Amino acid sequence: MKEQIQVMISEDEVNARIAKIAAQISVDFQGEEILAIGILRGGVYFCTELTKRITVPVILDFMEASSYGSATESSGTVHITKDLIEDIAGKNVIVVEDIIDTGRTLRLLLDNLRARGPKCLKLCTLLDKPERRVVEVAVDYNGFVVPNKFVIGYGMDYEQRYRNLPYIGVIEDA
Ligand code: IMP
Ligand code: MG
Repeated sequence: MKEQIQVMISEDEVNARIAKIAAQISVDFQGEEILAIGILRGGVYFCTELTKRITVPVILDFMEASSYGSATESSGTVHITKDLIEDIAGKNVIVVEDIIDTGRTLRLLLDNLRARGPKCLKLCTLLDKPERRVVEVAVDYNGFVVPNKFVIGYGMDYEQRYRNLPYIGVIEDA
């Protein structure tokens, strides 16, 4: 099976936007240290590209949540399937995610992390698909607002494929 992929946001556009977000975070946290939490697996590419460009000290950790939904839609039940190594109490935490769709995954993760007593808890997402929101989530840093289309690349998958595309695309006729 070979799907046709249409470019929605080019590699250059994505990287330029990531550099801007990294610069903003570096200003916002001047003189402080950040603990960046990349959300597996989709947030990995964004998290590494973003943190590379942040100029204040960064500690990196990862967390994974699964929602056991269909290929293109998360279910209402979200579970933490891999927890952090670091203790986040008293730290400046930034959660780095690929995309906020219904908001269910982030809501669970943020509520869970907030209970651990971070100094601050910010959410940074590469993409936001607000039309699909079911649960309210406050976004602190956003790369792009995207329409209600299923996107792939830059960490995002369709049935585990296409995560490694260096741009953001849509599958035609998917
Ligand atoms: P939510 O819980 O519905 O907000 O969705 C959370 C997760 O579903 C995201 O972190 C992605 O991993 C995945 N997801 C949502 N929309 C898309 C999409 O358009 N393409 C690829 N993955 C998506
Ligand atoms: Mg994800």
